[in-house]
Amino acid sequence: MRILSGIQPSGKLHIGNYFGMMKPALELQERGEAFLFIANYHALTTVGDAAALREGTRDVALDFLACGLDPERTAFYRQSDVPEVCELAWLLSVVTPMGLLERCHSYKDKLAKGIAASHGLFAYPVLMAADILAVQSNVVPVGRDQKQHVEVTRDIAIKFNNQYGPVFTVPEPSIRDEVAVVPGLDGQKMSKSYGNTVELFGDPAETKRRIMRIVTDSRSLEDPKDPEACNLFALYRLFASPDERESMAARYRAGGLGYGTVKKELHGKLDAHFAPMRARRAELAADPGYVESVLRRGAGRARALAVATLRAARSAVGIE
Ligand code: ADP
Ligand code: TRP
Repeated sequence: MRILSGIQPSGKLHIGNYFGMMKPALELQERGEAFLFIANYHALTTVGDAAALREGTRDVALDFLACGLDPERTAFYRQSDVPEVCELAWLLSVVTPMGLLERCHSYKDKLAKGIAASHGLFAYPVLMAADILAVQSNVVPVGRDQKQHVEVTRDIAIKFNNQYGPVFTVPEPSIRDEVAVVPGLDGQKMSKSYGNTVELFGDPAETKRRIMRIVTDSRSLEDPKDPEACNLFALYRLFASPDERESMAARYRAGGLGYGTVKKELHGKLDAHFAPMRARRAELAADPGYVESVLRRGAGRARALAVATLRAARSAVGIE
C-alpha cells in the first residue's frame, strides 16, 4: 500500500493539523510505503512573501521530524523538489471539467475570506491531484475538509484513464472520524485563518493563556454538564486514554466540576504530550544540514516515481 499526504507551509502548525492529519499520517507510515511532503507550490496561492514561505517550509520540516516522522520509512520532501508534478498538473488540467473545480468548497471558502481569485487558487485541486497521482498513491490521509479534493483527484484519474488508458492508480481518502474536525478556542473548526488555534510548538505561556480562553457555556461549578456538547471536552479527549476520558465524562455529569479545572488538566496533558517533541525539535533546529539531507533524500525517492508516471502520462496523450 502506498500512502501520501501533504501540508502547506502557510502558518504555524496547530493541534487541529496534528490530530486531523499529522498523527494519522505518521501512524500509517507503519502500514505501507509512505510519502509526506511540504506543499510549497500550493502555499504560493496564499503566501505572497518569500521570507515567510522559507520560514514556513523550515518550520513544517522541523515539526514533522519532531513529531515522529521516520525518514528511513517515509519519503519526506518539498513539493518543489519534484517539479514533475507541475507538468503532470497540466496534463491533468486538460481533462478536468471546469464544473468540477467550480464546485470545490475550499475555493469558495477562500474567496469568502477575501483571498484574491487567482488561476492558481482555482486550479489548486489539479496540482493536488498531480501530487497524489505522481506517486500512484492508494491512500491519502487528510482531515475532513480535504476529502472533496481527494474526490476530485479520483474523478480526474478516472477520466484520464478512460480517455487515454490506465495510467493512474485511483486513490482513496482516509479520514479518522473521531478527529475529523478539531474545534478551536471559539468552538469553530480550529484553523490558522480563524486565529483560534493552539500551536504545536508555540510559546508555553501563550499556549497556557490560549487554553484558559477556550469558550464554554455559562453553567456554574455545581451544575451537571454534558461532555458531548462541550468544546473543551472535545479537546481534552484527544489527549486522554479511554479510561481518563470516561472518568472525565463522569465528573462532568456529576456536577461540582468547574471548567477552569478541566482547562488546567487539559493544559497539563497537552504540555506533557508535546514536551519530548519540543526537545527533539530544538535538537533538529540546531542541525539544518541533517534536515536538508532528509528532504533531499525524500525528494529523490518521490521523484523516481514521478518521472516514471510523467513518462507514462506523456506517452498516453501523444507527447513522445
Ligand atoms: P488550516 O485550516 O489551519 O489552514 P490546513 O487547511 O492547512 O489548515 O490543513 C492542513 C491539514 O490539517 C489538512 O489535512 C486538514 O484537513 C487538517 N486540519 C486542519 N485543521 C483541522 C482541524 N481543525 N481538525 C482536523 N483536521 C484539520
Ligand atoms: N491541500 C492540502 C491542505 O491544504 C495540502 C496538499 C497539497 C495535499 N497536496 C496534497 C494533501 C496531496 C494531501 C495530498 O491541507
